[in-house]
Amino acid sequence: MEEVIKIEGKHALEGTVRISGSKNATVALIPAAILANGPVTICGVPEISDVQSLSVLLRDLGVLVDIRSSDTIVIDPTSMENRPLVQDAVNKLRASYYFMGALLGKYGHVEIKMPGGCYLGPRPIDLHLKGFEALGAEIRYDHGSYILDAPQLTGTKIFLDIASVGATINIMMAAVHAKGRTTIENAAKEPEIIDVATLLNKMGANIRGAGTNVITIDGVDQLAGCFHEIIPDRIEAATYIVLAAAAAKEVRIDNIIPHHLEALLSKLKEIGTDLEIGVDNVVIRASRDLKAADIKTLPYPGFATDIQQPLTALLTQAQGQSIVTETIYTERFKHCQELNKMGANINVMIPSSFINGPTPLSGAEVYATDLRCGACLVIAGLIADGVTTIHNIYHIERGYEHIDEKLTALGAKIWRETVE
Ligand code: EPU
Repeated sequence: MEEVIKIEGKHALEGTVRISGSKNATVALIPAAILANGPVTICGVPEISDVQSLSVLLRDLGVLVDIRSSDTIVIDPTSMENRPLVQDAVNKLRASYYFMGALLGKYGHVEIKMPGGCYLGPRPIDLHLKGFEALGAEIRYDHGSYILDAPQLTGTKIFLDIASVGATINIMMAAVHAKGRTTIENAAKEPEIIDVATLLNKMGANIRGAGTNVITIDGVDQLAGCFHEIIPDRIEAATYIVLAAAAAKEVRIDNIIPHHLEALLSKLKEIGTDLEIGVDNVVIRASRDLKAADIKTLPYPGFATDIQQPLTALLTQAQGQSIVTETIYTERFKHCQELNKMGANINVMIPSSFINGPTPLSGAEVYATDLRCGACLVIAGLIADGVTTIHNIYHIERGYEHIDEKLTALGAKIWRETVE
């Protein structure tokens, strides 16, 4: 028995949708909160399964997790214990690796199973480990688990070969209690990194430069509890913007930071979508005569890899050949074969996909192979003639809060069904 999402396409969407707190910030903020000596209140937490998986890990560490309302949690690490993280929940999401930096920073010792997450091709964590080693940690890999030990972490200069989001955040967390100054050069600049640095600074850390490519962390002895509100999810926002460009009569998307979405918004203008950008919202109206475009994914502020998959669904409706080139995860093209089942004409030659449009799409049985592939298939289902059935929806539930309810409120015909 499996729960699937079904979508009957071709219903023009109309209304307003509110974007939730950022998933990729949340999954780092929750582990970061354990560095405090008192309760940390975080609001704007999305109701997604990744948060449930992280809550399981927190509770296994003896951390009190109090869900105050649909979007506010209080994380109280006062009586936590540094136990090995080897249970199944570690495998459910990649971000469980943030417990490496947080526990190493707090206790100088971590034991954690190899983290899981979406398969997007190889996703090494060598830069995280090199960073921890540079700070003084010894690392062993034993029976599928990493064991990290550092009686004393000492600040140092760390140059990242690749501007990795995860490595930047993980090293920042490990370094908050290190002796002296840590400098991360070629740091990633994603908005989620600024959000984590903001939380840590509110707790009492001394981090400067987050959002630029040089981050400086001066070690401190103690971190206290605090209150923090998560930034809006720029990838969820992007998904709804693209979805509206594909299927809206008129849709307003609230609670966005347009600055975080500049690469997408300027690309959508090039494609010919009708957008009106406000201070914290965007209105999208039905757009005709879309033009093909070329996209190359890059680290922020370049075009996000997470958005190329949803955008590909829209590009199937554009006139001409679009080329999407992946430079972050070169195998992130599993959505293309699913779109082709619906009538798209896409050739994949890694690291690029060639999308020949416009092609009418029709409902089919398709499989979400990862989170953003799932988002892409939802958009395709909204455009398609007939009913689309999406399998493996647990991928979608990892990162999109109440996607079916949000879309139903916009007039989409989307429902869940349990099938054999
Ligand atoms: N990389 C290495 N070694 C490392 C770390 C990364 O070679 O030690 C490489 C990766 O293989 C990749 C590149 O560096 O080619 C960038 O990876 P990065 O570390 O920045 O990615 P991540 O931290 O694992 C986060 C998001 C991803 C998003 C990427 C890129 C979270 C939890 N995940 O992953 O989000 O695609 O940054 O922006 O923040 C998603 O939301 O669907 C998603 C997969």
